[in-house]
Amino acid sequence: MAKLSVNDLDLQGKRVFVRVDFNVPLEEKDGQMVITDETRIRETLKTLELLIARGAKTILASHLGRPDGQVVPSMSLAPVATRLAELLNRPVRFVEDCVGEAVEKAVAQMQPGDVTVLENVRFHAGEEANDPAFAARLASIADIYVNDAFGTAHRAHASTEGVARIVTARGGSSAAGLLIDRELKFLGDELDHPARPFVVILGGAKVSDKIQVIDRLIEKADAILIGGAMAYTFKLALGAKVGLSLVEKDKTDIALHALAKAKARGVKFLLPVDNIVATPVDSGKKDKKGRPKMDLTQPRVNIGDNIPDAEEGVDIGPATAIAYAEVLSTAKTVLWNGPMGIFEDPRFAEGTFSVARAVAAATAKGAKSIIGGGDSVKAINKAKLSDAVTFMSTGGGASLEFLEGKVLPGVAALQDK
Ligand code: 3PG
Repeated sequence: MAKLSVNDLDLQGKRVFVRVDFNVPLEEKDGQMVITDETRIRETLKTLELLIARGAKTILASHLGRPDGQVVPSMSLAPVATRLAELLNRPVRFVEDCVGEAVEKAVAQMQPGDVTVLENVRFHAGEEANDPAFAARLASIADIYVNDAFGTAHRAHASTEGVARIVTARGGSSAAGLLIDRELKFLGDELDHPARPFVVILGGAKVSDKIQVIDRLIEKADAILIGGAMAYTFKLALGAKVGLSLVEKDKTDIALHALAKAKARGVKFLLPVDNIVATPVDSGKKDKKGRPKMDLTQPRVNIGDNIPDAEEGVDIGPATAIAYAEVLSTAKTVLWNGPMGIFEDPRFAEGTFSVARAVAAATAKGAKSIIGGGDSVKAINKAKLSDAVTFMSTGGGASLEFLEGKVLPGVAALQDK
């Protein structure tokens, strides 16, 4: 059932509590916190512009990071409020808490069209606990609840779930923002009824992270292309040698089950036919967890299924990239989730970038391409191809759970149309 949309509501003069996902990466520079990727702020602008144009009093709530119920100054939303004012080209008031007197006072002073950003909701333990008393405090300043935080919709927290239920129970409206509308359209409707051939590209480190998605997509896709470290678990399951590659030795049965299911359903299931491999050498340094940090040396193309004992697979190889591009060139719908290799290192980025180019080429020929969040979005941005695909999800964990077929609590709590 479709969810009530912010577009359907009379917003004039109403206090609209909007849960956004402003959980953006920040870095300290010269004593100041600087936003390093503002995609998530930009993605909410359409909803915010609609609210402003329709005369709402817009109150924005979000989390940032995982402060665990404590006030952590480096996780303040203040820099986000400053940037939002620039992007909206209008004043944005920032309140140094998300509940209490200061908030009530600021909201009472708001005029139609005004925008206020509240401080990080996770500075209160009641947020993640979905504490009804905390949710009631948040809800006390709202006539209408709007959720546009797709990236956090898989969390049943006070500001994503509890407030919606309170506002609805007292006869108010709880609606989806335009970003959530779009996410549900592309990750939901478009993939439920895909134009065919429907080609799915799955990468990332672990089969165990993606197995539910793989299982579900085998029932829908015409072809599945596998990359990333999870390919080595499939290879191992098929009896190949994987050297020092990242594998899940205890997940080979899951891999074999997926392969058998794909075969039974006539789904093309492609694994890499070659790889970029490198030799890990102890750098003498330690990583953040105190483990020895390895340098990946002597990269080279390794043809065939077996990787020598002293080497590690770090990317798909050129023959695989060509084979995957060929399948993608026939696609009418493409879903991509997870990189093909360690694309953060330019030496091992070519496999991921070649897939990005093939997805862009398929899109130019009329395919709908949907990028399922997280690292694949980072990769598309890095390849400067974000304008060449149809849709990029703002969810990481949320898009994965949605693609697995799970109900997202933040969406379920909204009213049906
Ligand atoms: C995300 O970045 O995936 C969302 O903002 C959710 O954050 P969380 O994993 O800390 O709940």
